Amino acid sequence: MPSIAYVNGKFSPIVDAVVSVEDRGFQLGDGIYEVLRTYGGRLHAVEPHMRRLFRSLDAIELKHTFTAAGLEQIIREAVRRAAFADSLVYLQITRGATKRTKEFPTDVPPTLVITVRKLELPSAATRVQGVAIQTAQDIRWQRCDIKTVCLLPNVLASQRAKAAGCFEALFVEKDSTVNECASANIFIVTAGVVATPPLSTRILGGITRDEVVALALKNNLPMQERRVTLDELLAADEVFMTGTTVEVLPVVKVNDRVIATGKPGPATKRLHKLFCEQAG
Ligand code: PDD
Repeated sequence: MPSIAYVNGKFSPIVDAVVSVEDRGFQLGDGIYEVLRTYGGRLHAVEPHMRRLFRSLDAIELKHTFTAAGLEQIIREAVRRAAFADSLVYLQITRGATKRTKEFPTDVPPTLVITVRKLELPSAATRVQGVAIQTAQDIRWQRCDIKTVCLLPNVLASQRAKAAGCFEALFVEKDSTVNECASANIFIVTAGVVATPPLSTRILGGITRDEVVALALKNNLPMQERRVTLDELLAADEVFMTGTTVEVLPVVKVNDRVIATGKPGPATKRLHKLFCEQAG
């Protein structure tokens, strides 16, 4: 079976799936999304992903009649039809298709799109070597905690990072506060202490981030959720990013600066191992 899409009640191959040109997601970026994956066909962390999805829907005041159980059932069916061992599942919900107005339409059903593709993970070599990232000034809006489809700053920062030969972009405030990557959260390890920026409206509360914080605490690794500056990150012993599509991925270079020895460090490797044992 090819990659699968589900649009408002209908399953099809992704290439055949369409939404209206009047869809508010397309016209205005008026929607939210969620990203999950499977391990060996099994959905990972579906409850927290559903909680975040409903939180995003509430945050943008999108009226709907979706339930977590109902959405989960559709996701499971799409995953079953696609039949990949490791699937990447995207779910977008927009405020529907209607004449273009900025204010909310009345009596317009939301658009629900779910896609399932084969997950492309970072290669084993990438994981062993670690990746380079590039800083970008954080020009995003003030509600980065909402997983909205409005991703233009992330798109531009990612493109510039890729063009510079880097794996990811790292959003940093003008005052040098480190926030997160364009598609992942960020962690540092200094003198055995793991630190990551605290939950706020400046970052997305990553599901993988939560899992890694919990794993660190459970395994007696000193763990702090606190402000991290760029200087601190550049001087750290280890840097890594977390996300659904990267798990725990070592960062060994930031702009032109090599982090510590330039090799993935022991805490990063340990947390990735613990994460895989739990997830896989
Ligand atoms: N991105 N921060 C941002 C800005 C993200 O877009 C993501 C996820 C994360 C990590 O969240 P999680 O651990 O729940 O995957 C942090 C997904 C993968 C995406 O947009 O494709």
